[in-house]
Amino acid sequence: MSGTYPGQVLLLLLLVFICQMVAVWGQECPGTPELQNSLRQAHKLLSAHEASYMQSLRTLRKKLSLLQNSAARLPTKANNVTCPKLDAPLNGRKLGKVLLPGHEVHFLCDLGYELVGSETRQCKESLSWSGQQPVCREVNECASSPCANGGTCTDEVNGFTCECAKGWAGSTCQAPTPTFFVTVTNTSAATTGAAAATSFPLETPSLFVRPSKCSQVQGTTHCTCEAGYTISGRDTSICMDIDECELFHNGQAGRLCLHACVNTPGGYRCTCPEGYNVTRDGRSCKDIDECSTRQNNCSRDQLCVNTYGGFQCVKMECPRIRNATYVKTSPTRCERNPCAVDNKACSQAPNSVSHHYMSVVSNLSAPRVMFRVSAVRVLGDTLRFALLGSRGRRHFTVQRSDRQTGQLLLVSPIQGPATLDVEVEMSELERRVVIGRYITKITLFVSQYDF
Ligand SMILES: *[C@@H]1O[C@H](CO)[C@@H](O)[C@H](O)[C@H]1NC(C)=O
Ligand SMILES: *[C@@H]1O[C@H](CO)[C@@H](O)[C@H](O)[C@H]1NC(C)=O
Ligand SMILES: *[C@@H]1O[C@H](CO)[C@@H](O)[C@H](O)[C@H]1NC(C)=O
Ligand SMILES: *[C@@H]1O[C@H](CO)[C@@H](O)[C@H](O)[C@H]1NC(C)=O
Ligand SMILES: *[C@@H]1O[C@H](CO)[C@@H](O)[C@H](O)[C@H]1NC(C)=O
Ligand SMILES: *[C@@H]1O[C@H](CO)[C@@H](O)[C@H](O)[C@H]1NC(C)=O
Repeated sequence: MSGTYPGQVLLLLLLVFICQMVAVWGQECPGTPELQNSLRQAHKLLSAHEASYMQSLRTLRKKLSLLQNSAARLPTKANNVTCPKLDAPLNGRKLGKVLLPGHEVHFLCDLGYELVGSETRQCKESLSWSGQQPVCREVNECASSPCANGGTCTDEVNGFTCECAKGWAGSTCQAPTPTFFVTVTNTSAATTGAAAATSFPLETPSLFVRPSKCSQVQGTTHCTCEAGYTISGRDTSICMDIDECELFHNGQAGRLCLHACVNTPGGYRCTCPEGYNVTRDGRSCKDIDECSTRQNNCSRDQLCVNTYGGFQCVKMECPRIRNATYVKTSPTRCERNPCAVDNKACSQAPNSVSHHYMSVVSNLSAPRVMFRVSAVRVLGDTLRFALLGSRGRRHFTVQRSDRQTGQLLLVSPIQGPATLDVEVEMSELERRVVIGRYITKITLFVSQYDF
């Protein structure tokens, strides 16, 4: 029915139109009242058709949206037999699109990120994924402390940057920076110094390696080092510590240190053996006087003898000779008591025995006078000096220096450490008869070192 309305309206309108056209030429057209009527009819028809048309459009639209809704519900039903969709991790990728049971998806992270979680997940029969959703975590390149020489590390995606401490440069602050400094120093020491210093790897932060100071002079670069350092030879940007101990070990100017030399960054230090103090100039060793500083454990009846590098506790014993007795007149001297007139054995025993303790260094040059023995007053007509048998006798000899004096002479160097005893006898003669004997015992404490 709805299809007829437009046809009728069209026919009526056509009719009116034709009549208007024809009216120009003739008179066989319906009159104005009939025409008006026809137009009203057409209006009515149109309105009716319009309402019906709109109604059917609404019905259609409703049907369409119903279809749309059911269509939208369809994929939900399909998801029912697959695992849920998985997302690729941030800063990473997902490989594998099939979400059906038994299928796998793989995850990859971008460069500079590391995967935390499951690298592979499988869609299980229960329609859930195995494993855990991975994340791509940024790799902390600073974890291995790549910045050398006190540089500060800043982590970045797929890398790191080092903020170097003053005087250092390079991606890992491995290279000392040349700075401008215009001086020229004599680096003739370079060869030996470098040879000694090359054992220090450059990567190791070391005070034995320093940046050089370079300047441009007429197009050429001159690099110099702080005092105590020298260009390593290979790299002018690096100054190596000069091993003064090695360099001046056998120098013409003599030893750098009297005893031991310790190389330090940019310098050196001398050390001394126990019992010595380093002198003010830092190069020599001075013996510590333990006897005057109570650094000794000698008992009250002992005598403390300071030696080079130590001390000795000594105690003088008076000689025990048959038919003679002695009395101690000082810590180092014993004198014979008067003898009975008829006691020959007594009168032949030494009148006095003195003990002298001497501290000397090792390898003392010879010959040299070690000791002098003099008679204070001479009763007889002759004085005789003799060396008595004792340890170290081969090193000494005794000779007269003047009428009343004899001297103990060192004839060959003694290598310490050693303790030697020598006895010098002075005899007083009257007409070739011994009228007095005076013994001087000398103990030599020879140190280990020649200082
Ligand atoms: C599928 O989905 C419907 C409702 O959406 C649910 O009732 C049914 O249990 C699901 N089936 C499976 C196997 O998950
Ligand atoms: C550097 O020192 C060496 C020896 O100490 C000397 O022979 C040389 O002349 C010096 N050179 C300069 C430029 O002073
Ligand atoms: C030796 O050195 C030590 C410490 O270095 C100091 O305590 C002592 O007083 C010094 N002794 C002498 C005799 O200089
Ligand atoms: C002093 O002490 C040392 C060890 O400290 C010891 O060997 C020595 O016998 C002592 N000397 C005396 C006289 O006590
Ligand atoms: C030692 O003295 C005694 C008496 O005191 C004497 O009889 C003896 O002969 C003396 N010995 C010597 C070797 O003179
Ligand atoms: C002893 O001294 C001489 C020079 O005075 C020296 O040639 C020698 O090497 C020294 N010996 C030792 C063991 O120090």
